[in-house]
Amino acid sequence: MSIQLKINGKTRSIDVDPTMPLLWAIRDYIGLTGTKYGCGIAQCGACTVYLQGTPVRSCSIPASAAENIEITTIEGLSENNSHPIQQAWIIEQVPQCGYSNRDKFWRLLRC
Ligand code: FES
Repeated sequence: MSIQLKINGKTRSIDVDPTMPLLWAIRDYIGLTGTKYGCGIAQCGACTVYLQGTPVRSCSIPASAAENIEITTIEGLSENNSHPIQQAWIIEQVPQCGYSNRDKFWRLLRC
């Protein structure tokens, strides 16, 4: 089934099982690998993306639930890591293992 995802300002049409987790649609079909797989059960936040301004765990919602809703991934914040939170992340050397960064980042962005 073909679904349309509005991701980082672009509309992409992909042919997938509509029950596929949004995470795999983003990573494997769109090719945006900044969104990570960690636990797969909505606990770690590695897969967090913004769905119409709200952080969601993309491992736990079907791709079809995000159809025609604006999705923002980490790649969508800036093309050159110039977003103020990205800069703070770099300056303060926040990244540790890298997996829970997405969740922390999106929660901070929402403040
Ligand atoms: S992969 Fe851990 S919350 Fe989605």
